[in-house]
Amino acid sequence: MDHDKLIALAEQARSNSYAVYSDFTVGAALLCSDGSIYMGCNIENASFTPTCCAERVAIFSAIADGKREFCAIAVAGGKKGSSSLNKCYPCGVCRQVLSEFCDERLEVIFSDGTKTSLSELLPFSFGLNNMQK
Ligand code: THU
Repeated sequence: MDHDKLIALAEQARSNSYAVYSDFTVGAALLCSDGSIYMGCNIENASFTPTCCAERVAIFSAIADGKREFCAIAVAGGKKGSSSLNKCYPCGVCRQVLSEFCDERLEVIFSDGTKTSLSELLPFSFGLNNMQK
């Protein structure tokens, strides 16, 4: 799957964002190793804390569907109506959640076409290995 297609799906997911408090809309498209794709958007809440980011909606949906191996995630976000050409970096909580399930080489793709890796976004991460030693 080429990156442009994954970015387009993140954009599509962004259009479903429920962001009535922040007006900051985000979409994510997560590519699994088997080629399937899970999408997510941010979903806000009047009580604020229950708000869930697009990336976590996507990965929780994939996990709940039995997926465990992932290759890449595209993220598109910005102020409602803004061009997605701005980079929207995954927040710290989403980086931690991604690191629970994804290899550190997971590609994180931005809507301007650039990419990085999970290990670059979250070096020296805390995970299952630390809990077992
Ligand atoms: N948001 C995401 O969906 N993903 C991120 O990684 C950054 C933040 C959402 C959460 C909230 O609904 C809005 O953007 C403003 O923080």
